[in-house]
Order: sequence, then structure tokens, then C-alpha cells
Amino acid sequence: MSPRREDGPLSLLSGTEEARYRVAPLREMLGAAFGQIGDGPITVARAPGRVNLIGEHTDYNDGFVLPVAMSQAVYIAAQPRSDRQVRLRAQNLGKSSSFSLDAVERSDDAPWSNYPRGVARELQAMGHPLRGCEAVIWSDVPIAAGVSSSAAIELACALAMTNLTGVWVPLLDLALASQRAENQFVGVSCGIMDQFASAFGRAEHALRIDCRSLERHHFPLPAGCAVVVCDTRKPRELAQSAYNERRAQCEAGARAMGAAALRDADLDLLETHRSDLDPVILRRCRHVVTENARVLAATEALEQSDLSTFGRLMNESHRSLRDDYEVSCAELDAMVEAAWEADGCCGARLTGAGFGGCAVALVAAERLEAFVDQVSRVYEQRTGRVGHLYPTQAADGAVVITDPE
Ligand code: GLA
Repeated sequence: MSPRREDGPLSLLSGTEEARYRVAPLREMLGAAFGQIGDGPITVARAPGRVNLIGEHTDYNDGFVLPVAMSQAVYIAAQPRSDRQVRLRAQNLGKSSSFSLDAVERSDDAPWSNYPRGVARELQAMGHPLRGCEAVIWSDVPIAAGVSSSAAIELACALAMTNLTGVWVPLLDLALASQRAENQFVGVSCGIMDQFASAFGRAEHALRIDCRSLERHHFPLPAGCAVVVCDTRKPRELAQSAYNERRAQCEAGARAMGAAALRDADLDLLETHRSDLDPVILRRCRHVVTENARVLAATEALEQSDLSTFGRLMNESHRSLRDDYEVSCAELDAMVEAAWEADGCCGARLTGAGFGGCAVALVAAERLEAFVDQVSRVYEQRTGRVGHLYPTQAADGAVVITDPE
């Protein structure tokens, strides 16, 4: 199978170009969805998806993660209304949904709207007055495909909704409000990685987040290598209950070792408590402890432009997720193994929660096309599924795009 081309060119639009290319079509979509709109300024916000290079299932253990914000993003264009209604159009889905800011309820009919609804509720609970609006949401982040389109929708909506009131709210607050919306309103008990990556990513850099202190550092990605998202197209089944089970196992492990969180444990402490720990919990803890160490080693490797060490750590991360944390699946293993076998692959591993979804590979840029062709073909031969492999670039985090009109 040849690579899918609808993902477009690799280039990332700069701020000014972005304003020129994105705002006019979004303005048209807004007009088409809600009828006549005035010539007044509209608010356009953009928030990227994320792909995590290393540091998986560590965020909710107060540990370290190293995602990049992707060049694929969610855009929202909004214009104010004089009442308290929020009218939304999800352009990619061809669906609409409305709610009142005075009574924000969860919607079973339009589950996609629970992200904006949850964000609106959180922002108001924080004391930020919002105004009614009509808004179009459009995305080139693949939806429900393991690259955090949900965090991107949350951040884009949070930025647009606060911008419409003319009040500047720090991105940190918007990212935390988005996570709370997902935890408490949507009902997904995720960690902080996805919202932080979407908020604080930087072009050409990976973002290391200390999920305890929330301290952030950017590390330049080495030139000459491409980040390739390898979507298995295997739906993430039972992911939520298995995710919650892993979280509970980590908490039980930390408790048994007298640690506040697994962030505070190391292999020696694990060894000391070997006989107190259920063998499954021991393996879960071993993954988290070794994964935290791998993130720190990986950022050192980035600082030294040592791609081969970085790649080896990615591969070790996959094995640990597969054997100790048990969140891989046949499709993810097939994808990662096909990547490992391909020329020019520095490293590959599953990314995100696992149980289906995506892998990520770092690939020598000059081998990119051949890599995508070969891995797509081998993956299909071994699994009977057609995957979706596409390059992404590390991009800037969420922004409001100034309307050039
Ligand atoms: C999901 C969650 C994140 C993180 C990853 C696993 O993407 O949303 O917070 O826990 O899984 O690393």
C-alpha cells in the first residue's frame, strides 16, 4: 500500500501564513453553518494533537513524559452572540449541538460536544464569565485515533471561549481546566500529558513535562529525522477500564512501598519490597520506574544529539509496555516490529494509552517514503489490516490566530 496523501505536505504554516490560509475558509464555514454573519472580527484558535515520544503511563504517577505537539491541529472559529447560547458545528462530523451557558449538561446525543461543554463549565466554575457564541470546529488531527484530538478540542475551545470575552487567561489555567473537564465532565480519568502537550508544545522541539511540579523543558529534535505516526487502525477496546485498572495497580504498588507515588520509587526499593508485592503489581511498578529513568536518559541523549541511544530507549520502552505493563496488542506489536525491521528506523514504540491506537517511529528523513511504504505493506500482510502511517512535525502549542480582516 502506498502512503496516504491526504495528510498533505510536511510544511507547517507559520503564524502569518496560518492566519491567511486558515481564517478565510473557517469564516466561510461559520457563515455556511449559521447563516449571515457580520464582517466583524471572529476569534480563531488552533490547538495541536500530540504524539508522545517516550514516557508512557508515567504522567499519573507524578513522573516524566516527552511528547511533541503535532503539526495536525484542531481549529475553532467563533463569533459572539447576544444571548447565553453556545451553538456548535463539528465540521468533520457534519453535526451540530447547542447548549446554554446557564445550564451546561452532558449530551448523550452529541458526545463530541461534551469536550466544549465540559470546558465551558470548568471555566465558569473558575469564575471566568463566558459569552454565548456560534462556532465551527474543524480538525486535521485524526479523530479518536490515539493522538489526543480530545485534548486539542478542549484547548482550542478554552482559548476561543475566553478570547471572546476579551479576557486573557494563562495557558496553564486553560490546560488544567481542560484536564478537569475531561476527568470530571467527560468522565475519562487521564493524566496531564495530552493537555500540556497541546498547550505548551514548541516547533522543532520535544517537551519534557515533570508531571509532579508541572515544570517544562523543551529539547530540540535532531535535524534530519522525521516523526512518523503509525496508526494500527485497531480500535482501542476496553481501554478505559484497563487504563483505570493500571492506575489503581500503580497506586497500590506505591502504597505497599510507602511511596507517595511511583515517581519516588526506584529499582532498589522495588527489590526490597519484592516479597510484599503481588507479581502483577511488581511488573506494573517496574515499568513505571524504568520508564521514568528512560525519559531522563532520552532527554540527555537529545542534548547530545545521540539518536541511536534515543532510539534504543524507545524500543526498550515498547518492550516494557508490552511485557511489564501489558498495554500492547497484536496489532501494535506487528506495527512496531515492522518499523524496527525497516531501514532508517532509529526507534519505535506504542504511543498513548495502548490497547490499539498508534505507534510512533523516529525515522531518518531520507528514508521516510521507503519506510512508510514498507511498514504499511508488512503491517497489512501480517495483520490483514490497513494501517495509516503519516509524518508529523513538532509544532507550537495552542494559540489564538489573529483575524487579518
Ligand atoms: C492517555 C492519557 C494520558 C497518559 C497516556 C499514557 O493518553 O490521556 O494522560 O496517561 O494515556 O501515557
